[in-house]
Amino acid sequence: MRTPFIAGNWKMNLNHNKAIKFIDDISYKFENKNNIKIAVCPPFTSLRSAGLVLEDEISKNPDMVIKLGAQNMHFEEKGAFTGEVSPEMLKALGVEYVIIGHSERRELFGETDELINKKLKAAFEHELKPILCVGEPLEIREEGKAQEYTLGQLKKDLNDIPESDLNDLTIAYEPIWAIGTGRTATPQDANEMCKAIRQEISKIYNDKCAQNLIIQYGGSVKPSNIKELMSMPDIDGALVGGASINVDDFLAIINY
Ligand code: PGA
Repeated sequence: MRTPFIAGNWKMNLNHNKAIKFIDDISYKFENKNNIKIAVCPPFTSLRSAGLVLEDEISKNPDMVIKLGAQNMHFEEKGAFTGEVSPEMLKALGVEYVIIGHSERRELFGETDELINKKLKAAFEHELKPILCVGEPLEIREEGKAQEYTLGQLKKDLNDIPESDLNDLTIAYEPIWAIGTGRTATPQDANEMCKAIRQEISKIYNDKCAQNLIIQYGGSVKPSNIKELMSMPDIDGALVGGASINVDDFLAIINY
């Protein structure tokens, strides 16, 4: 059985003061009716504050199981990489998850599959659990090549990653045309791609890895569409952007 996993990608929102307020507010109202895994991924500058408040809240209410994730990292351990943050720095802050290869990183900051592959390897090496994002732009979908494109990313991103690391991997299928646009993929289209990703994992690794893999859908997930998305057999969770920085919306999504 795969435990559903919903993660909030705050993107470049909520400075450390606002992050503290968000965690305070969500803890006050917290419910996890479906007993799922939950994570929030604040920007780097809010990780420490969010982490400390989370720790404090969890000590008061052990059911408040929200884990901490980061949105990116460098693959090197340390050194002359101005502006970068290392896996070890994230670990030291109690970070458990890290988003790798988000389409905004690929499109706006030139991240290639080769770079993403290095970041994945570094994440596993430091016992961080990567959420690997893949997904196609609109033109590719319109050409009917969405699967070929997305599975192509997957193969390159996972190059030389051993089967033993797969337990700690989450994949997020995020069609670029659905991100921040209000336009969600239909649950059927989203499921079709998640299923294709699972089949590809079975080909690269084996059926056991494929059946255990958590695959999220991301792209304009909101309280009104989460239930239907989660009812699809190959969708095991969601990576939520815009709706994850609103306490009531995020709680409604968790309790779909
Ligand atoms: P969105 O973003 O929910 O705002 O569309 C999702 C994401 O980019 O992870």
